[in-house]
Amino acid sequence: MAHLHITSWVLALILFALALMFYKQGKKPSKILHMILRLDYLLILYSGGTLLSNYFNGSMLPEAIIKALAGIWVIAALELLLVRVNKGKPVLGMWVQLGVALIIVLALGFGRLPLGILP
Ligand code: HEM
Repeated sequence: MAHLHITSWVLALILFALALMFYKQGKKPSKILHMILRLDYLLILYSGGTLLSNYFNGSMLPEAIIKALAGIWVIAALELLLVRVNKGKPVLGMWVQLGVALIIVLALGFGRLPLGILP
């Protein structure tokens, strides 16, 4: 499940970067990439939720919950960034949020919680 989790969030970051690039250029593939990205959010939520369930009844549950909330925050920031770039709205605040959320997620995911890149 950790592999599915890592694969799906790495894929999300790649799809996000591509969709962002195409939105900025006003090109068509942006919409399709954005829709695939939304499906990928479901994979992240499913794999993350399953990983989280392993922590119920354990002593690291609080950290796992914070990791999960920060993960949902990353997804929200990615989605809002794309929508705002598409609409030409200001995005600086969203970038800051994405940065903060990503740091929390990576620090807890790789730093604190036991599963590393190869469980
Ligand atoms: C784009 C968003 C996300 C990113 C970048 C991300 C990143 C990571 C990373 C780097 C790890 C550590 C590697 C591993 O143990 O597999 C991890 C683990 C984990 N993630 Fe996420 N994650 C995201 C979303 C979520 C969501 C939405 C949830 C919960 C619903 C979640 C729950 C977990 C849990 C419970 C672990 C297990 C940690 C462990 O056992 O070591 N993540 N995530």
